[in-house]
Amino acid sequence: MSVVDTGDLWWKTAIIYCLDVETYMDWNGDGTGDFDGLAHRLDYLAELGVTCIWLMPFYPTPGRDDGYDIVDFYGVDSRYGNFGDFVEVMRIAKARGLRVIVDLVINHTSDQHPWFVSARADRQSPFRDFYVWRDEPPLRQGEPVFPDQERSSWQLDQGTGQYYQHVFYKEQPDLNVVNPAVRDEIAKIIGFWVQLGVSGFRVDAVPFLLDTAGVSGGAGLPDPHQYLAALRSFLGRRVGDAALLGEVNLSREDQERFFGGAEGDELTMQFDFISMQNLYLSLARHDAAPLIAALQSRPQGSPDVQWANFVRNHDELTLDKLTDGERAEVFAAFGPEKRMQVYGRGLVRRLPPMLGGDQRRIRFVYSLLFSMPGTPVLFYGEEIGMGENLEREGRMAVRTPMQWNGGRNGGFSNAEGSPLIDAIVDGDFGPAKVNVENQLRDPDSLLSFIKKLIEQYRAAPELGWGTFELLAQPNPSVMAHTLAWDGGRVLMLHNFAEDPVETRISVPGLVPESSLRDLFTDETIEISGGADGYEVAVLLEGYGFRWLRNVLGGDVRRY
Ligand code: NOJ
Repeated sequence: MSVVDTGDLWWKTAIIYCLDVETYMDWNGDGTGDFDGLAHRLDYLAELGVTCIWLMPFYPTPGRDDGYDIVDFYGVDSRYGNFGDFVEVMRIAKARGLRVIVDLVINHTSDQHPWFVSARADRQSPFRDFYVWRDEPPLRQGEPVFPDQERSSWQLDQGTGQYYQHVFYKEQPDLNVVNPAVRDEIAKIIGFWVQLGVSGFRVDAVPFLLDTAGVSGGAGLPDPHQYLAALRSFLGRRVGDAALLGEVNLSREDQERFFGGAEGDELTMQFDFISMQNLYLSLARHDAAPLIAALQSRPQGSPDVQWANFVRNHDELTLDKLTDGERAEVFAAFGPEKRMQVYGRGLVRRLPPMLGGDQRRIRFVYSLLFSMPGTPVLFYGEEIGMGENLEREGRMAVRTPMQWNGGRNGGFSNAEGSPLIDAIVDGDFGPAKVNVENQLRDPDSLLSFIKKLIEQYRAAPELGWGTFELLAQPNPSVMAHTLAWDGGRVLMLHNFAEDPVETRISVPGLVPESSLRDLFTDETIEISGGADGYEVAVLLEGYGFRWLRNVLGGDVRRY
């Protein structure tokens, strides 16, 4: 018997679905989403086929940064329910085979967190060293993360006459991880949530967490990556198969370090920000080259770690890793108006409006998302093609309530009104036209299509585990790649152009006398043999895509 060792590395083939309890489903009719509402939607998510839910912050918060400013790491904000409701969600999710990961926001707290309240009350406070203080801000400072709101990452605390560091809003003072007491607290927070059954964390702002250069007198951590490895190993001791999905929007070289290089002993997963940005450049240019180059630049690293692919997240669609000229091209194509842009580097739009609602092209993008090597991550509402609300400020444009049906308040809430209800998208992408209920009933809907993609992804372990190879072929608008693993091979073809193309590709590794089966249409494509391997001739429609599995007649092992 041959044994394929996939260990317990569930993240290698997960499908992650990110949602905010606040905007998902309101069950008690107060106008805000809640855990009870989510509990009632877990069947929907299980049916959709995703395998892991990522819950955005639901901890008590004053809401300066939509929950990323926390006042109690061990709590549930009362607007969303209580611990009983949280545990019910965990129980039902487990029963449906859904894992849950939660946001771990430990780079900073809210300025209303009791630690900071104490720290700023008195220089002698036992919590003073939980934060990063200086008599004067450093002379050389990087640009603040939110340049339209903050001029500096250092804020004078009038009461005690020193400056504290805050790389995000000034209401989010940075924690000082050089202090062992802070590191102990972080471990306790991690231990707490895994004890409640979570399968890991989406780790917020990892590079900032590890950047201890601001600590006065150059007393930063000698090797910050050692600390990240220590966190990972602590997590592993508590729960063997728990994952850390890190937010690291840095160069490839740095990303490799955050995985822990060949050892793979730091983050288990990282979002692939570079491929995401280049995907948009490829779309704007109708040219596969930028995405191909981005995928080729991925560091090799340990086979146990994984890339998390995404088209959209809850923040600005950042284009910061493109050149100014490239960014301008993407802005011109998908967000030409000033109100569609933010921080000079990103867009506040969702994909379908950016593509003018063109279903062919939208489906093409999701086919790419699911066929790139890695783990796909969906932001709630993507599966039905929701749009954004440009009336809302900055990043809030894409954080509007989930659209369940075409009735009152989009089926999100029974309340008469609330700020969130006011935020519901209007017009062509609003609930009257875009909602779950209609799409569930329609076999041709985007939702039905995404379900099929998920099904195919789950039936093709090559996508998460396989050896990835890009294939040469003459059409600049085409990306052709194969993924091979455990005797299986899939060939993926995508055409970024509006017009159809006919392409001949020589595909290495095909089994003699086999054929290719289109996983969406069931069509069989013959392959022709040559001295240099096998060739395939395929027609790709405009924005067309094919998922082709290499099948040998009579082999019963693959379906
Ligand atoms: C990254 C999060 O994705 C973003 O929403 C937040 O504002 C910052 N980190 C600060 O926590």
